[in-house]
Amino acid sequence: MKKDISNREDILLLVTAFYKKLLADDSISYLFTHLAKIDLTHHLPVLVDFWDSILFQSNTYQKNAMQPHMALHQQSPLQKHHFDTWLNYFVQTVDELFEGEKAFLAKERARSIATVMHIKTIQLNNEKRTVNTE
Ligand code: HEM
Repeated sequence: MKKDISNREDILLLVTAFYKKLLADDSISYLFTHLAKIDLTHHLPVLVDFWDSILFQSNTYQKNAMQPHMALHQQSPLQKHHFDTWLNYFVQTVDELFEGEKAFLAKERARSIATVMHIKTIQLNNEKRTVNTE
């Protein structure tokens, strides 16, 4: 029986394993490595704060997670397949490592945030189109 996600160490384990999958897949890794040029030593602790705030209401993440993704989308479009790939690896990693209420919640929140994020990228495309035809 796997354990549930219960603290920041568990979250670090989760995001580290998740990013290992993301960065090994060329269909999505370029967004992290070539465009955003993320530094994992800085990025992973931010993700730990983010998930700690969602799962345990720690309030350690106080930024707007949508913003950097909209900026990224304007540099290089985030498409449906990117969101599907991101979500598949996230769900896969959670299932490989954990089970329980928090593990379920993490997958559910990831799904809903990814959906909102995708919708916002489409809205951004539509706004641009409207501005361009004015
Ligand atoms: C197409 C799917 C996604 C891609 C390609 C992607 C890519 C990225 C990249 C490149 C960054 C670094 C941005 C930067 O520092 O400039 C980032 C940051 C982040 N991502 Fe995503 N992401 C995706 C979906 C998601 C989803 C669905 C969530 C939440 C459930 C999420 C949560 C975060 C958080 C919390 C950060 C840190 C933001 C900050 O620095 O405050 N991402 N993502």
